[in-house]
Amino acid sequence: MFRLHVAGLKGGTGKTTVAYYLARFLSDHHKVLLIDKTVDGTLSKSFGVEDSLFSCKGNPYITLPNTNITVLNASYLLTEAPNDINCIKNIYEDLVRKNNVIIVDHSQLSYDRFNELEIRLYYDIFRTLTYNVVLVVGINELEVLKSLNFYSSIDSYINKLVAETLGLPLDNLTFTTIWAVIINKVMGNVDEKYIVRSLGDKFRNAPKILIPFYKELLAGFHKVQIPQEFVSLGKYMDTIIHDPHSIVRR
Ligand SMILES: Nc1ncnc2c1ncn2[C@@H]1O[C@H](COP(=O)(O)OP(=O)(O)OP(=O)(O)O)[C@@H](O)[C@H]1O
Ligand SMILES: [Mg+2]
Repeated sequence: MFRLHVAGLKGGTGKTTVAYYLARFLSDHHKVLLIDKTVDGTLSKSFGVEDSLFSCKGNPYITLPNTNITVLNASYLLTEAPNDINCIKNIYEDLVRKNNVIIVDHSQLSYDRFNELEIRLYYDIFRTLTYNVVLVVGINELEVLKSLNFYSSIDSYINKLVAETLGLPLDNLTFTTIWAVIINKVMGNVDEKYIVRSLGDKFRNAPKILIPFYKELLAGFHKVQIPQEFVSLGKYMDTIIHDPHSIVRR
């Protein structure tokens, strides 16, 4: 099982787009569960999945026709987090076990009870020591990312949560790996030196992948062919899925 979190600091930078294209690319070789953990359920709405996992009723997922992609609605705009999680445990466990790649689409900065609940369920089942991330940022956000220490705060939040779920002592544990920083919607030429300077020492060993602004994408990402940079990202992630040690980590 390989699980990847698509996360970012800001809204509208392309997290859902990246998550969806990765799922589409990887589904040629893997059974992919795309977990929509956004607040308002972007992907779930696109594919008509009305019930959320957290509402404990109905059918919270759909397998997209003629694909290996299942979209699970774990969004939570109008849902109270259930007090008794048994109502979601079985359906969740069955789904995650049927797939071998999980891609999680997050809203910006999702530190909340819903996020936590799903993470606990997952780590309780698989008891793995990894939390894989690709960060998606806009070009104007690079400097902010450097100064805000965004990544360090994800790191300590996840370390505490996963260590607690696995019943491990927290000392010196780190589960998170940033596999790539995606700089999306780039217009014109951007000097690589500018990116390196903007990020400072952060994410030193994670490749920076620049994706141009594609006008066609504004019409809806699922209506167009996968742009080439997303294909390159998909190939890179596929290599990691096959052998995480083939790539130098942060
Ligand atoms: N490289 C790109 N070029 C042009 N448009 C893009 C590109 N990437 C994403 N978009 C468009 O930008 C909009 C926002 O993208 P998306 O929903 O993926 O962002 P998000 O980070 O998931 O937003 P949110 O924070 O609201 O969840 C969408 O209309 C999408 O089609
Ligand atoms: Mg989104």
